[in-house]
Amino acid sequence: MGPSVSIVGSQDPQLLQTLRVLGYLPNLLRFEAVESKHPTGSKGPDVFVIDIRDLASLPRDVGVLKRQFPASGIVIVAKSMDPTMMLEAMRQGVNEWLAEPLTAAEIDSAIRRVARPLEKAAAGKTFAVMGAKGGLGSTTVAVNLATALQKATRQGTLVMDLHLTHGDASVYFGVEPRFSVLDALENIHRLDETYFKGLVTTTKAGPDLLASSDRALIGSVDVTRVRQLIEFASTVYRYVVLDCPRSDATLLEALDAASTVIIIANQELATLRNATRIASALRQRCGPHRVKLALSRLDPGADISQQDVERVLGGPVKYAFPSDYRTSLAALNRGEPLIMQNHSSLAFSFEEFARDVADLPTKPPEPQKTGLFGRLTGKR
Ligand SMILES: Nc1ncnc2c1ncn2[C@@H]1O[C@H](COP(=O)(O)OP(=O)(O)OP(=O)(O)O)[C@@H](O)[C@H]1O
Ligand SMILES: [Mg+2]
Repeated sequence: MGPSVSIVGSQDPQLLQTLRVLGYLPNLLRFEAVESKHPTGSKGPDVFVIDIRDLASLPRDVGVLKRQFPASGIVIVAKSMDPTMMLEAMRQGVNEWLAEPLTAAEIDSAIRRVARPLEKAAAGKTFAVMGAKGGLGSTTVAVNLATALQKATRQGTLVMDLHLTHGDASVYFGVEPRFSVLDALENIHRLDETYFKGLVTTTKAGPDLLASSDRALIGSVDVTRVRQLIEFASTVYRYVVLDCPRSDATLLEALDAASTVIIIANQELATLRNATRIASALRQRCGPHRVKLALSRLDPGADISQQDVERVLGGPVKYAFPSDYRTSLAALNRGEPLIMQNHSSLAFSFEEFARDVADLPTKPPEPQKTGLFGRLTGKR
């Protein structure tokens, strides 16, 4: 079966006819009708063909569609190759741009190229971890999540430190990286698997690390590159965990490339205010089902309870990590993620969290040790 196609916003019967002749069974939708045909949370078609020939500018709906259906390809049909509009379209995540005169062969090959690009390319899942305030433990969560995923599945796992400069994920792994995420962004056009593997640092704990840089960033970073880098990494690794800086608008824009965003908060008013703001921006950008909330350094006796936090944040807080400064600090001093010595309840909470958030099967119970009585009676 060929790719499923929805044509949006077209007044041109010829386009519909061409697609039919090419063997597609397209839906023809007005912009307003997209939601009823493809409700938020549904799978979406393999490809949206959006006809903007009767419009003066790129409609906002394009970016919204891409965020709601990140796995669907988007082909724009336009009057001309307008560079400003094309650049804007790229930023919105459009995959192909076709201009008049249209030929059936061009339309066909564009649709085939972009049909579900993410699913074809990326087998991996990407988790973005972002603290609602500094120092809450988001890097701790990120490195332990990655290590737990690698331990549980033995599949390639990467931590990407998206603090482009002066991030500290490398300290948590006890490594001294030679290359950084800046090198990857600067050389985005020549990224292939071999080159990428040359930029990452291997760690004793298991995951690879694409570290932050020690050199200062000159100029600003282009969101398209960050998104491309995240998407590329997820074609190389089964799991990619992003250690994200806060309040970076560029980064927020790129996070629609992540399968799940985890916002770390604690039980303080100031943090909750930030968390509410970040959560609502991300829910809008990525869709509510992809945004999860976690509490770090949980204090069961705090004035603000977990229920209060849920009320403020407008959603369930699915994960909570106990407060254990001594274990966290000891691991940091050893230069390894704390789950490497897994006898603390904090380590246990990280392992459970990793299984849940990545949909891994629950851990089989430890086989019961055969005691003396068991050996005598033959019972376990
Ligand atoms: N659950 C926890 N209980 C107690 N202390 C913790 C916990 N998680 C992390 N810490 C400690 O808190 C400090 C900050 O942790 P971490 O660097 O992970 O936070 P962060 O949110 O990434 O900070 P930054 O804003 O600097 O990036 C570290 O000393 C760490 O050991
Ligand atoms: Mg950090």
